[in-house]
Amino acid sequence: MSNNVLLEVKNLKTYFFLDEGVVKAVDGVNFKIEKGKTFGVVGESGCGKSITAHSILQILPPRGKIVEGEIILHTENGPVDLAKLNSTSQEIRDIRGKEIAMVFQEPMTALAPVYTIGNQIMEAILLHQKNVTKEQAKKRAIDLLGRVGIPNPEKRVDAYPFELSGGMRQRAMIAMAMSSNPSLLIADEPTTALDVTIQAQILDLIKNLQKEMGMATMLITHNMGVVAEMADDVAVMYLGKIVESAPVDEIFYNPKHPYTVALLKSIPKVGKKVKGRLESIEGMVPDPYNLPTGCRFHTRCPSYMKGICDKEEPPEIEINTGHKVSCFLYGGR
Ligand SMILES: Nc1ncnc2c1ncn2[C@@H]1O[C@H](COP(=O)(O)OP(=O)(O)OP(=O)(O)O)[C@@H](O)[C@H]1O
Ligand SMILES: [Mg+2]
Repeated sequence: MSNNVLLEVKNLKTYFFLDEGVVKAVDGVNFKIEKGKTFGVVGESGCGKSITAHSILQILPPRGKIVEGEIILHTENGPVDLAKLNSTSQEIRDIRGKEIAMVFQEPMTALAPVYTIGNQIMEAILLHQKNVTKEQAKKRAIDLLGRVGIPNPEKRVDAYPFELSGGMRQRAMIAMAMSSNPSLLIADEPTTALDVTIQAQILDLIKNLQKEMGMATMLITHNMGVVAEMADDVAVMYLGKIVESAPVDEIFYNPKHPYTVALLKSIPKVGKKVKGRLESIEGMVPDPYNLPTGCRFHTRCPSYMKGICDKEEPPEIEINTGHKVSCFLYGGR
């Protein structure tokens, strides 16, 4: 089992140090991603999904710092702790885009507007692969664009990002991410900006490429439906912590944490109109500068136990193989 692990995150804490105070965006997160598997991360806006991903790649904004923890990537040359690398070091640059590639929510942030998509994919290929000529790189770029379902790739390779539709841009970005055969793809809300049919196509594309290339995926989403469709293992985040993690079937058929239960209720049912994101969860997400004491979910929890949940932090309990939950309903006192 342990030699199947590709990435291990242990007690990761990433904080923002701002004039207004400290935001504990990621506050003691633990998880493992296995080779070739899809690890889904779900939770409401602001719970720390993106900052967890950005910590792995060391692409945090200036005020954000990893203050504690380890991010162990198992490479061919042995384990590397990414948390210890300097964000501008050659080591992390070699890992970014080669071992670990990322697809962002909004492709325009990752694609440069003034270069053709072909040029950008070629540049990624030439940067990470030795002994490749420009002609070979262009051929590979065309091949990749075809693989991600862009029609007429020989022509489209010379298109600028603005000449493509949103779905096409997302495909181009995925092609760029695939160009170095990464062992891990981080997809941060890869389909939220797209309409529903295109969403399904892009998710299928990621799934197929993953099968073909054997890479693992960390799939970040606020959408439980997407998780059900795609993930092998799931972590549910709330205010900087993972409150429950388990194989996908356990999450859907045997959810334990009241927050997970609430999230599951938020999945749109067939034939029912969706009004907003996660409308069924009562209460407001607390202010990140002023996190609740005890269990962070207690202010919104239907099973809140006074004097317990507001006083102590629930420890993580393994209730089934691979199924962990942090909630006093299941012990820990
Ligand atoms: N550049 C920043 N400066 C200060 N605080 C930030 C910054 N980026 C994120 N944060 C804070 O860190 C916390 C986690 O943010 P993060 O972007 O990881 O949320 P998320 O789960 O990805 O949400 P979403 O679903 O909206 O993308 C939030 O409280 C957010 O306000
Ligand atoms: Mg995000």
